[in-house]
Amino acid sequence: MPCTSVFGAQWGDEGKGKIIDRLSANADVVVRYQGGANAGHTVVVGAEEYILHLIPSGILHPGKVNVIGQGVALDPVQFLDEVDGLRARGVAVDPSNLRLSANAHVIFEYHMRLDQLAERWRGEGRIGTTGRGIGPAYADKTARTGLRVCDLLEPEHCKTRLRAALAEKNALIERVHGCEPFDFDTQFDRYVSLGDRLRSFVCDTGAEVRAAADGGKHVLFEGAQGFMLDIDGGTYPYVTSSNTGVAGIAAGAGFPPGRIDRSIGIAKAYCTRVGEGPFPSELHGAEAERLRAAGNEFGATTGRPRRCGLFDVPAMRYSLELNGADGWIMTNLDVLTGFDEIRVGTRYRRGDERWHDYPAHLPTLAGITVEAEGRPGWTEDITGVRMFADLPRTAREYVQWVEEQVGSPVLMISVGPDRDQVIDREV
Ligand code: GDP
Ligand code: IMO
Ligand code: MG
Repeated sequence: MPCTSVFGAQWGDEGKGKIIDRLSANADVVVRYQGGANAGHTVVVGAEEYILHLIPSGILHPGKVNVIGQGVALDPVQFLDEVDGLRARGVAVDPSNLRLSANAHVIFEYHMRLDQLAERWRGEGRIGTTGRGIGPAYADKTARTGLRVCDLLEPEHCKTRLRAALAEKNALIERVHGCEPFDFDTQFDRYVSLGDRLRSFVCDTGAEVRAAADGGKHVLFEGAQGFMLDIDGGTYPYVTSSNTGVAGIAAGAGFPPGRIDRSIGIAKAYCTRVGEGPFPSELHGAEAERLRAAGNEFGATTGRPRRCGLFDVPAMRYSLELNGADGWIMTNLDVLTGFDEIRVGTRYRRGDERWHDYPAHLPTLAGITVEAEGRPGWTEDITGVRMFADLPRTAREYVQWVEEQVGSPVLMISVGPDRDQVIDREV
């Protein structure tokens, strides 16, 4: 089974970084195929914590090839900072273990400015974006006014494309938003010199990944964000601007969909969401505070407190179904230790209406809450448990019950942030 998709099955921050790092030990190539530095993937190795935004989470394992595919929106400043930051901590990062697609679209300063300005104009309807320029950069890609990494590498070509793009952006920034425009020469010089520093990493990543798969290498596709933030399947318009699940791989990695052998979702044993938008199983007050404190639920990219809620069965079934998941990994089970009763949202409700399945046809989930069912909790510390049979009985029963509700097997359980804190079942 050489090619595996690993995607977030909730609203992001499910623990993808930790799990990808763990699975990378048995992989050869790890590929990011969408999103950008809006992602924050945490990997904990002993006393060291790494937060990766663009570089795939296989980078901490020597000898693995990490690939940033053409579907990623690349902020070159962030990319180079991340390379420098890892090197300063003694992690080997060079063109032999990090490859960057020539066709990845570039995030410019004006994308970040426009992201923030658009949020101001949305007012009450603001999305709560990460401010990393993601929406405007993908909009330009689709509008065919974007610049790609390969464009930065050819200054004359870059000059023509950037001049046209910036003229339009500056008109928008000045005349619509009433803000200072960007100086063309400054931007051009800056991004061409950034391009020079990217050059050694740049290649046709799709060709390399396909060749690796042809050679029997094990390829892991690392999703960013979560499926409920997917531009098509998520809680639109409170979503990110890419296809976060399996559907993003073909276009974003340049890899034929039929060659993906296995698909695995990642979900917390409860739910979190950062930013605005509907969250049917959201908790408020003391219950939410308790979960936030126990799980240290603060954003890895923006530091914002994460909204916390109950595990959401209808959304999870929907996520796994659309991604053809063969199973899923449950993270943060340890965070539920000490709760007398653990409740799970099993049906959606709005007034007299009930939904067993996720109602993807509605314009909004606003006003929908969940009907919850509970199971007894446990008090024992489970962070040192490595075998399913060694979990407290009620923890085992909780996992098995959620598994039945979701209708898909739990392949692995994570019981702490460290790469070793997992209970393997079938992965
Ligand atoms: P990602 O975006 O999906 O990679 O997730 P983040 O890194 O944004 O957030 C997950 C947080 O949970 C990080 O702080 C991880 O170190 C932490 N984490 C991952 N797995 C576990 C777990 O099983 N238990 C606990 N307590 N923390 C975990
Ligand atoms: P990882 O990969 C959680 C959310 C933002 C906002 C919405 C749109 O770490 O799981 P954007 O900046 O993408 O235009 O913001 O999506 N968001 C995330 N939430 N985890 C992430 O990434 C996220 N990336 C974006 O908070 O609600
Ligand atoms: Mg994250």
